[in-house]
Amino acid sequence: MEKSNNNKNTNELKNCNVCEQEDLFLKDLFETYRPEKDNLIQMLNEIQEHYGYVPMYVQEELSEFLKIPMAEIYGVVTFYSRFSLEPQGKYKISVCLGTACFVKGSQKIMDRLTERLKIEPGQTTEDGLFTIEQTRCVGACGLAPVFTVNGEVYGKATVQKLDQVLDEIMEQEGQSKNVS
Ligand code: FES
Repeated sequence: MEKSNNNKNTNELKNCNVCEQEDLFLKDLFETYRPEKDNLIQMLNEIQEHYGYVPMYVQEELSEFLKIPMAEIYGVVTFYSRFSLEPQGKYKISVCLGTACFVKGSQKIMDRLTERLKIEPGQTTEDGLFTIEQTRCVGACGLAPVFTVNGEVYGKATVQKLDQVLDEIMEQEGQSKNVS
């Protein structure tokens, strides 16, 4: 990780309208890192952690700062599953559709999830509570089929188990269960 310990990158902010106006996080970020291409991933990690996703306007600022084409940054953000282009829900539910889980019926779990939450993989519910994702092998094939909630693994999963977990979360959040 290439960081600089002074403010010599401040000049890089001259054209950064958003930073000058209000986005102190970005200003700090651009003062912390040198404008070098090798810093892209680490900076994206910090951006993802701060915003919960990588907003398009931030990609534009990053493109300008690192002198990397937007298309390249967009390509990196969409390649790695840990980066997201949209705000994430409070509960990120991922269903593994890797081979071991798929042959044990994980598609049924995904189908139930999309049916109950009325969104597709990659989307977030309007209330900002849930995001659905599909993953490829989370390294727990022995427990297939598997789904995770905010990284917590539920193995030997069933549609009933998913329903139970969703019900518990909804109850906790004061929502009606909305089971169809
Ligand atoms: S295929 Fe699902 S955990 Fe490996």
